[in-house]
Amino acid sequence: MKNSDASRQGAAVPRLRRPWRLAAWFALATLSVGAGYGAILPGAGAALAAAREGQGASSRPDRILLTWSGDPATSVSVTWRTDTTVARGLAQLALAGASPRVEAEAKTVDALTEPTEVVGVRGVAGGMMKVHYHSVTFTGLMPDTKYLYRVGDGERWSEWFQFRTAADGPQPLEFLYLGDAQNDIGPLWSRVIREAYATAPRARFLLHAGDLVNQAHSDEEWGEWFSGAGHIFAMIPSLPLPGNHEYADYPPQGWGETRSRRLSVFWQPQFTLPRNGAPGISPETNYWLDVQGVRVVVLNSNEDVGRQAAWLEAVLSSSPPRWIIVAHHHPVFSSARERDNRAVRETWQPIFERFGVDLVLQGHDHVYARGTAAPAAQVDGGAGRGKIREVGTGPVYVVSVAGRKMYEFQDDGWSRHGADLHRWAENTQLFQVVRIEGNRLRFRAHLATGEVYDAFTLEKRADGAKRLVEEEPEVNLTLSSAPAGGRLSLR
Ligand SMILES: [Fe+2]
Repeated sequence: MKNSDASRQGAAVPRLRRPWRLAAWFALATLSVGAGYGAILPGAGAALAAAREGQGASSRPDRILLTWSGDPATSVSVTWRTDTTVARGLAQLALAGASPRVEAEAKTVDALTEPTEVVGVRGVAGGMMKVHYHSVTFTGLMPDTKYLYRVGDGERWSEWFQFRTAADGPQPLEFLYLGDAQNDIGPLWSRVIREAYATAPRARFLLHAGDLVNQAHSDEEWGEWFSGAGHIFAMIPSLPLPGNHEYADYPPQGWGETRSRRLSVFWQPQFTLPRNGAPGISPETNYWLDVQGVRVVVLNSNEDVGRQAAWLEAVLSSSPPRWIIVAHHHPVFSSARERDNRAVRETWQPIFERFGVDLVLQGHDHVYARGTAAPAAQVDGGAGRGKIREVGTGPVYVVSVAGRKMYEFQDDGWSRHGADLHRWAENTQLFQVVRIEGNRLRFRAHLATGEVYDAFTLEKRADGAKRLVEEEPEVNLTLSSAPAGGRLSLR
């Protein structure tokens, strides 16, 4: 969405052989059928209904989401939705204090209101509905300062939400990274985003690595995504990027019109993101920003990879801070059967290596995988520590998955290209907490249940070369302890 500028107001468990996997899945399926859905998951029906209740727009603001579109130290953007009866959206902002007398202190800002026709609305004839998306960018804010805001129309308001602006310049930074949500977002992705928030409630932002939904233009699925996260999205800025499932034919089938594959009709109305991407790439799908001494670069692996290469080189060579994080959907090294993102690997990977990118965060393959482009000398770190590797100046590549869909892990996409795979998992929902402080970056991949499954620290020297120090994970799951009863392989 364009901004309404309010500057005035400113593991080493052996892989299970296929018969075992099938047997495990069959056992689970039998249990599911025999016991009944409700019997295994008490209250599942009610939870599902609750997860989906946000679909019908009303005059009350919903789908409230913070993002950044400018400097995270001095601005924040908020986007929300109402029905078309709300012609003028408003947002109010105040410095956060413990006094409940907020209203008198608050400044009011007019929103940019965009009528949007959306499709795939459950319970609406033809599935089509006109709604209003509203957005405000609060600018001129003080760094590292807690504010309160609410959105509405002057009569009907949301609750007051608190957020903190980023610090100005290098400061310890923690953020969350999530792989694909995509399927059963209400029933099964919701627990991951909530556990992530419980684990890192002071995370400065949420990075969503694509395939946020399965059907790009489905209002129902976007409704589940917003309801699943609830107030978390209104408190911590999100940095989303599109996966292949954010693109689909439009208009929907059966309308008798010419259809073409396009970015989700919801993307630009509901996300207010930096418009500083490569020319010719859909705005707000490819962008960069600096936050607390870290450059975050978001690429769109669905659109012209070559066009983004020159842009990427320019972004990485213009006075980058000490740490550089890149994110895109289709992985450089594929981890699932018959997958290969050759253009991404051949075009972008050499740039990542040349400019000393530190982490490349990806999705798409519905497994967990972590490694580097080339093998490195390693030593055993000793008791309580894992392996230590001198990984040079290039990045650590990570693929992860947050949602329900799972694929079988394949290592060919790494081995064929000489890459060094360090750790992987399948049939496992995860979220990741990244903490950067000084010359150290700590990465922790957590299971949906919270335990640390993979952990390492990158120690960066003055010449940009890094030492990767693994920590012993909290869990090394085996089949007998696999929560889903299915295959769970570690190394
Ligand atoms: Fe994907």
